[in-house]
Amino acid sequence: SDRPDIVIVGSGFFGLTIAERCAADLGLKVLVLERRHHLGGNAYSERDPATNVEVHKYGAHLFHTSNERVWEYANRFTTFTDYKHRVFGKYQGQVYSLPMNLGLINQFFGRSHTPDEARALIAEQSSEIATEDASNLEEKAISLIGRPLYEAFIKGYTAKQWQTDPTKLSADIITRLPVRYTFENGWFSDTYEGLPTDGYTAWLQKMADHPNIEVRLETDWFGSDVEAELKGKVPVVYTGPVDEYFGNSEGRLSWRTVDLQESVVETGDFQGTGVVNYNDQDVPYTRIIEFKHFHPEREKTHLPGKSVIVHEYSRFAEEGDEPYYPINTAEDRAKLLKYRDLANQEPMVLFGGRLGTYKYLDMHMAIGSALSMYDNKIRPHFAEGVELK
Ligand code: FAD
Ligand code: NA
Repeated sequence: SDRPDIVIVGSGFFGLTIAERCAADLGLKVLVLERRHHLGGNAYSERDPATNVEVHKYGAHLFHTSNERVWEYANRFTTFTDYKHRVFGKYQGQVYSLPMNLGLINQFFGRSHTPDEARALIAEQSSEIATEDASNLEEKAISLIGRPLYEAFIKGYTAKQWQTDPTKLSADIITRLPVRYTFENGWFSDTYEGLPTDGYTAWLQKMADHPNIEVRLETDWFGSDVEAELKGKVPVVYTGPVDEYFGNSEGRLSWRTVDLQESVVETGDFQGTGVVNYNDQDVPYTRIIEFKHFHPEREKTHLPGKSVIVHEYSRFAEEGDEPYYPINTAEDRAKLLKYRDLANQEPMVLFGGRLGTYKYLDMHMAIGSALSMYDNKIRPHFAEGVELK
């Protein structure tokens, strides 16, 4: 019959990993529903027609992992470039190399320091407040790195990210603020890092490219024929927002979103690198992304004299906004516990991915978590008849 063996709601990395394993490993017939006009979830990217530059449509996505299994799995669908991510930060007319390191310390304090001298300086400046006494984010940050670095590199950026003064934010938001006493400025410290050679969309399409997988775009699970006919009858892996699944019965979970303002500028190189953070509080955006720098190896294919940039503005998500970062207040955590109970009672439905679990997941974590759900729940169900829960 035409009836699928399993339905996946959402075609992001979580949903596509489950779909691919079910089709390729178990030979199941898989139906993926995706309400957007494209597959791939937030990792989706497109070539900008004016510049031929690949643009990550839901914000800059950099792949990195130390998980051997995820790395091996990802490499079945794409190769990776040797791109190594670096981030710079602008503050009061100067550009500094982040994360906070010896280069930044020397530039910011206007003289050279040996690693030991820099350690002593930051220890002295952070002695103003003991970490265990910090009662808000500002005090916590000062207790870790001292007031001068906090005021330049944390205060304005954090205030813009949260639209909240850091003295009103919980100290728990930061656990560590690493300062590197070397000149190392690689943003990630994972074993593997790179960008998919032919882009994210080619990678995501390859995962779905199996005769047993059908992806139905512009199809919302809620109100679909599939929901009406198959709910409770075949296993469903739901990767949409958990609160939405239950009609927000326990209240909405809160998220931050990012407004992405894309433009084409009439210069071949706008900022000389992929990501520049804007630390000054009076600059309204938090970052500018210039996508061509993520693929220097494609330079010859990029159209000359132009570049695509995106200004990012952070704010609280309202109804209809893309949910990007879980805010995770005490209220959110209480609601989430109730949703988890409801989810556990929902027959034949597994909840996964960043929206289904209300957790920020990097791509490698979404893939890793889907592989675990496949191993621990889905495969045992289909291969050994274990009850699905
Ligand atoms: P998603 O990608 O969100 O996919 C969920 C899909 O489900 C969506 O396509 C949605 O349309 C669909 N859906 C929801 N409800 C329904 C419904 N009712 N019916 C049908 N379809 C539905 N990770 C990194 O590793 N590196 C990065 O640099 C990085 N940068 C990021 C930047 C931003 C701004 C954001 C938000 C995330 C970033 N990530 C990054 C994380 C990465 O996007 C996630 O790990 C990945 O998207 C998670 O995949 P997912 O499948 O769980 O969710
Ligand atoms: Na301290």
